Amino acid sequence: MKLNELNESKTAPSKSPQGETCGNSPSGEQEGGRRVAIITGAGTGMGFEEAKALAGKGFHTIMACHHPEAAEAKRQEIIRETGNENVEVIGIELADLSSVRRFADGIKSRFQHLDLLMNNAGTIQTGFHLTPDNIEHTVSVNYVGPYLLTRLLLPLMGEGSRIVNMASLTYWMGRLDFPEFFTRGRKKGFHRIHIYCNTKLAITLFTFHLANLLKDKGITVNAADPWMVSTNIIHMHIPIIDFFGDHFFRPVIRTPRQGADTAIRLLLDEDKAGQTGTFNRSNRILDVGDKYYHHKQMQELWDKTEDIVRKFL
Ligand SMILES: NC(=O)c1ccc[n+]([C@@H]2O[C@H](COP(=O)([O-])OP(=O)(O)OC[C@H]3O[C@@H](n4cnc5c(N)ncnc54)[C@H](OP(=O)(O)O)[C@@H]3O)[C@@H](O)[C@H]2O)c1
Repeated sequence: MKLNELNESKTAPSKSPQGETCGNSPSGEQEGGRRVAIITGAGTGMGFEEAKALAGKGFHTIMACHHPEAAEAKRQEIIRETGNENVEVIGIELADLSSVRRFADGIKSRFQHLDLLMNNAGTIQTGFHLTPDNIEHTVSVNYVGPYLLTRLLLPLMGEGSRIVNMASLTYWMGRLDFPEFFTRGRKKGFHRIHIYCNTKLAITLFTFHLANLLKDKGITVNAADPWMVSTNIIHMHIPIIDFFGDHFFRPVIRTPRQGADTAIRLLLDEDKAGQTGTFNRSNRILDVGDKYYHHKQMQELWDKTEDIVRKFL
C-alpha cells in the first residue's frame, strides 16, 4: 500500500445503500457544505454523549447505530437539547463487513468531506460467535469493522479531519496471536475479557500506525481511554456480580459524559488540532512507551487486516 493511496477513492460509491438508512435524513442530496461528524455506537452510553457534544457545536451529526430504531429517540433528544436539526441515524452492523461497506457507500454518495470520525462502538460478547466474514464477533465490532470503516471513509478526509478511536486501559493485557486473533479472538479457548483486551490492543496499534501513515496529510488519529464508565458494556451478565456492581461500583466510576470527555476534546478542542498518534486519558497524553508506539506486531497486524478487508475496499 502506497501512502498516497490511503485516502484516494478506489471504488465508486453505490447509489443505493440497500436499506441501511434509517431515521429522518435532513433534506438535500449534497451536504458537503456543512461540517460533518460520524459517531459509531451513538445511541447509548458515551457515543450518545459524543454525538450530543458534536451536534451542539453545529456539526451535521451522523449517529451510526447498531439498532437504529432504538436510537431514534436519542436522536430526537439531541435535536431537542442542542437545537441542531441536522442529526440523523444510519444503521451499521460492525459485525458484518458488507454492512460497513454499504454504510460508507451511503455516506460517500451524499458527502464530499468528512471532518470527524469517532470509532466509539464496542462490545464484549459473552459467547463465541463468528460473523458472516468468519471473524470472531468482538474482534469485528471493536477492531476489524472500525478499521474498514476508517479505510473506506479516508477519501473524504483531508487537512484538519480528525479520527478518534475508543481504546481502553485494558490494552496492556492484550496479545495478538495470529491467525487466531481474527478467527477466535485468541489462541486459547474463548474468554470474553481476554478477547476484549486483545481488540483494544489492536485498535491502539491501528491508531499509532494510521497516524504515522497520515501525518503528512494533516489528518489526525488519536486514541481515547475513558477509564471506567457506568454504561451498558460493563454489565457482566452474572447476576451476583451485576448486583454488587450496580450498588457499589457504578456510583464511584465515571458517568458516560465524564468518560466521553477525553474523546470529545480530541474531536473538538483547538489545542488538539495538530495532535496525532497519541493515547489519551483524562484529557492528557499518556506515554504508553516504545513497546506500543513501535510494537513488533504493528505492521503484521496492518497487513493481515488489509488482507481480510481487501474485498470490501
Ligand atoms: N464503559 C467503560 O468502562 C469503558 C472503558 C473503556 C473503553 N470503553 C469503550 O467505550 C466504547 C463505548 O462503550 P460504552 O461504555 O459507551 O458502552 P455502550 O453504551 O454499551 O456502547 C457500546 C455501543 O456500541 C454499539 N455496538 C455494539 N455492537 C455493535 C455492532 N455489532 N455494530 C455496531 N454497533 C455496535 C452498541 O449499540 P447497541 O446498544 O445498539 O447494541 C452501543 O451503542 C466502547 O468501544 C467500549 O469498549 C468503555
